[in-house]
Amino acid sequence: MDGIQFMLMMAVMWVGVYEIQRGAMTMGDFVAFLGYVLIMTGAVYSLFTTYQSFQPMLASMDRLKELFSMVPEFERDKDARKLYVPEAFIGRVKFDKVSFAYGKEPVLKNISFEVLPGEAVALVGPSGVGKTTMINLLLKLYIPQSGAIYLDGVNLKGIDHVWLRRQIGVVSQEIFLFNDTIENNIKYGKPNAGHDEVVAAARKAQIHDFIMGLPDGYNTVIGERGTKLSVGQRQRISIARAFLKDSPLLILDEPTSAIDVETERSIKESLSNLVKGRTTFIITYRMSLADIADKVVGIVDGSIARAGTNQEILKTV
Ligand SMILES: Nc1ncnc2c1ncn2[C@@H]1O[C@H](COP(=O)(O)OP(=O)(O)OP(=O)(O)O)[C@@H](O)[C@H]1O
Ligand SMILES: [Mg+2]
Repeated sequence: MDGIQFMLMMAVMWVGVYEIQRGAMTMGDFVAFLGYVLIMTGAVYSLFTTYQSFQPMLASMDRLKELFSMVPEFERDKDARKLYVPEAFIGRVKFDKVSFAYGKEPVLKNISFEVLPGEAVALVGPSGVGKTTMINLLLKLYIPQSGAIYLDGVNLKGIDHVWLRRQIGVVSQEIFLFNDTIENNIKYGKPNAGHDEVVAAARKAQIHDFIMGLPDGYNTVIGERGTKLSVGQRQRISIARAFLKDSPLLILDEPTSAIDVETERSIKESLSNLVKGRTTFIITYRMSLADIADKVVGIVDGSIARAGTNQEILKTV
């Protein structure tokens, strides 16, 4: 651009000198003209550099557009349309010789156990052993390389994933709150729920009184830019969500690991009501939470080390 600007100036000078010599232009006219040319080239130059700095952004936009239009693998699968949508979920879940690896290293090896309708099973074991992986398989985020998971006797592989996710409520250690009112945050799992239903769920999660104590009650904005809640209160909001969603299958992934023992004791009460009548997977490294489960599956090194009723297991630890 500098070269072009220089050449332009030279051309203007040359024409200017010629015009002045001819008497068609005064010196004053020429100086004014030169000034305008300088202003104009400066403006064109900055327009050009702005465009240049937009280039990487345009490339990123293309990449973003690509990402947003990506279709999940299972939807590209031409068999996907044949996926089975069961009428209802009774509640029996069976892991049958399930083995799984994310890459080359096997994570789960030959896992077999069964959970009966309405029963709660605690998956316990050291960090990195594959507990969350088992849940990922149950949510059909991954498919086992060998063996299978059965829901009411039907292989999960053939079950519609949208239907599946609708049957599952999750309370985890990481609670995601929207920058929205408490009411809408609780409604997250069931957007068309009425106010009375939200209140009933909040009561069961023992958070109703706290909400009523806030100046705006259920209309209090929480999350990012709203009122800050304690970990225990966030946990209760997510328990209220699960009560409202009222799903037959429940996953509690270390729901009390971030809170102190005292808060855990009171939250445990709400959780033990929540698990009633639902097939539940409780992931916990605290045996204190395992006692709301009907049975315990202990996992070591990707395999089941011990399984039994929680009383039997508690005796051995
Ligand atoms: N998305 C992934 N890709 C590759 N490897 C993974 C992935 N997720 C987990 N792993 C690996 O699989 C193994 C089991 O992980 P997983 O998260 O299931 O353990 P966990 O029992 O839930 O542990 P924690 O108690 O710490 O939550 C670990 O070695 C982990 O590094
Ligand atoms: Mg985990």
